[in-house]
Amino acid sequence: MDDIKNACANHIFGTYARFPVAFVKGEGCRLWDDAGREYLDFLAGIAVCSLGHCHPEVTRAITENADKLVHVSNLFYTYPQVELAADLTRLSFADKVFFCNSGAEANEAAIKLARKYSRDRFGPGRHHIITMKDSFHGRTMATLSATGQSKLHNGFEPLMNGFSFVDFGSLPAVEAAITDKTCAVMLEPVQGEGGLNFPPPGYLKKLKALCRDKNLLLIFDEVQSGMGRTGSLFAYEQEDVTPDIMSLAKALAGGLPMGAMLATDEVGTAFTPGTHASTFGGGPLVASAALATLRIISDPGFLAKVRETGAYFLDRLAWIKSRHSLVRAVRGRGLMVGLDLEVPGAGFVSACLEKGMVINCTHEKVLRFVPPLIVGPPEIDRLIAVLDEILDKEIQ
Ligand SMILES: Cc1ncc(COP(=O)(O)O)c(C=O)c1O
Repeated sequence: MDDIKNACANHIFGTYARFPVAFVKGEGCRLWDDAGREYLDFLAGIAVCSLGHCHPEVTRAITENADKLVHVSNLFYTYPQVELAADLTRLSFADKVFFCNSGAEANEAAIKLARKYSRDRFGPGRHHIITMKDSFHGRTMATLSATGQSKLHNGFEPLMNGFSFVDFGSLPAVEAAITDKTCAVMLEPVQGEGGLNFPPPGYLKKLKALCRDKNLLLIFDEVQSGMGRTGSLFAYEQEDVTPDIMSLAKALAGGLPMGAMLATDEVGTAFTPGTHASTFGGGPLVASAALATLRIISDPGFLAKVRETGAYFLDRLAWIKSRHSLVRAVRGRGLMVGLDLEVPGAGFVSACLEKGMVINCTHEKVLRFVPPLIVGPPEIDRLIAVLDEILDKEIQ
């Protein structure tokens, strides 16, 4: 461990506080470190490896295509990209897709499209976007500026102008923030990095009506909540509402880096040749992995199982809450679940790791569980036993 730790410190920017574990192999919900120790993964690369590690169908798609065609420019057609776009639009509200490589890039594309559409349709000056407090949209300058967490802004000012932050879940707050410069409202249907926050029932639907009334675009950042994570392919489906623009990434390509920005035809016409681009976006290798991933996750039987397993998980976490006063609340939908603690959670994350459970903590006090969607009751029961043991100890 000392060797890799020192080499990392010597050669890699110190942007991550890493745990003292080096993983070398993964299969399903299990990971192995370089000493051969086995772990259960309840983090899945932070909601990325949703089919588990090295799913045979994803591995097959990667290996077959690695042997055939890895990259050509977006100046040409490639079959996996077009097939993937056809599948994503068939399965969502959207008509068109722009492919990129990460969540931040998908949100950058969404912000640019909202500005461009508004300018084309209503003229200049209408470029402000309302986003939510405690939101997370990425680390590039525009998406950081859109992120409603001042602790992440510190040191990078001046930020890009044109973003204002309102309370998540409050319609009057959005109404009060709208000006003649506003072009869009952007939010996560479920806040992930902000501490697993769910809006009140009916809020998203009312927000859509407000946006329509004021000629504003509604942008859903489903980078974390999308791709089956909450028990439907996209979280918005459970709210009887559709956005005008949506961003996806994380689980989209089964562990390979891919982002996508989706929109209706009406809005998408604002992107014409030369207005936006990505060298790697939607390349044949990554698109093939995404096709394999999407085919499995979008199966109604698979999604039903996510909801069933999620309900079991929530039930077991409720049992944990009933036994530990440190647990303030249990929150979750599908397999995006967490424990809101009375105290900082970092020590519990380390204690879990020592006992072979990979979890993380978000927003300082929320233990977050976003396991592979193929997780089952036996793995959940093992995690619950560990949580039951460590939460007795009041580690901080
Ligand atoms: C909701 C949401 N949007 C955007 C991002 C940024 O994604 P990426 O790290 O791929 O740029 C994240 C990452 O955690 C996220 O959770």
